[in-house]
Amino acid sequence: MGFKVGLLGLGTVGTGTAQILLNPAGRHPLLSAVEIHRVGVRSLGKPRQLQLPASMMTTNLESIVTDPDIDIVVELLGGLEPARSLILQAIKRGKQVVTANKAVLARYGDEIFSAAHGVGVYVLFEGAVGGGIPVIQPLKQSLGANRIISVLGIVNGTTNYILTEMSAKGTGFDEVLAQAQALGYAEADPTADVDGLDAADKIAILAAIAFGGRIKREEIFCEGIRRVSAADINYAAKLGFAIKLLAIAQRSSRNGGEALQVRVHPTLVPSNHPLASINGVCNAILVAGDPLGQVMFFGPGAGAGATASAVVSDILNLVSLLGAIALKP
Ligand code: HSE
Repeated sequence: MGFKVGLLGLGTVGTGTAQILLNPAGRHPLLSAVEIHRVGVRSLGKPRQLQLPASMMTTNLESIVTDPDIDIVVELLGGLEPARSLILQAIKRGKQVVTANKAVLARYGDEIFSAAHGVGVYVLFEGAVGGGIPVIQPLKQSLGANRIISVLGIVNGTTNYILTEMSAKGTGFDEVLAQAQALGYAEADPTADVDGLDAADKIAILAAIAFGGRIKREEIFCEGIRRVSAADINYAAKLGFAIKLLAIAQRSSRNGGEALQVRVHPTLVPSNHPLASINGVCNAILVAGDPLGQVMFFGPGAGAGATASAVVSDILNLVSLLGAIALKP
């Protein structure tokens, strides 16, 4: 039984995803059951790294989510609209959805997941946080027995790359940011990275899974790295600290009751702390739970291959779930 994918977006992550799907040899055997049926892009004229048959491509994005032949819609457009509306339309049409869109999930997660629940389809989003690091599924499932105490870490590859390069080579902020953009790490509008907004979206998603309930994205305190200078980094190093942009969600007590603190800001991390040595585009997420104690998820946090690896893992999960449903007597 084959599964047809409708891909929305052929940018950095879309291209990485298509490249994996088109070259399944030596990967999971279920990948050979997946076929890219159609690809929706904003512009056909744009020069692309990956050339696909013209018959497969369209600028009519709605035609992808309404195509009766498509089983799985993979949304990799980024941005709020039309991504949100297309995801909702796909759900309404009974499609399974995979997305790496942290901005949409952090703001409209409730709307999207209740729509999916109503129709009985899945919305999977491993690529939305931590690039290639498997963290969403482990938080949802493998750590499910734990009472989570805190989730914190480095969840933006671009800013970690900038801080690392400024610290190691003394390169200026603008130059390193341009490098991060060329490497495909930064968002289309890198303000989202630099000002901590992308990290805030990601910690909102992680906190919602870890602690349950709705996290109000607009209430997350958020300060980026714009005001961190090479001199700050050097002074911090002399005092035995690294400066890292941390995203933090932790239980705390307030007025005798329990509260949840969620925030993003540059932080002085003691140089012997595990997060101090997470460099370059890598991300690391520390989860503390009872009774497990602390675990750390670490790996490449942005870029085409890393994020596509997570996206395709969601497609594979869906294929095994849908296959199992189809095989039911
Ligand atoms: N711009 C994001 C980052 C991409 O740098 O982490 C991965 O979500």
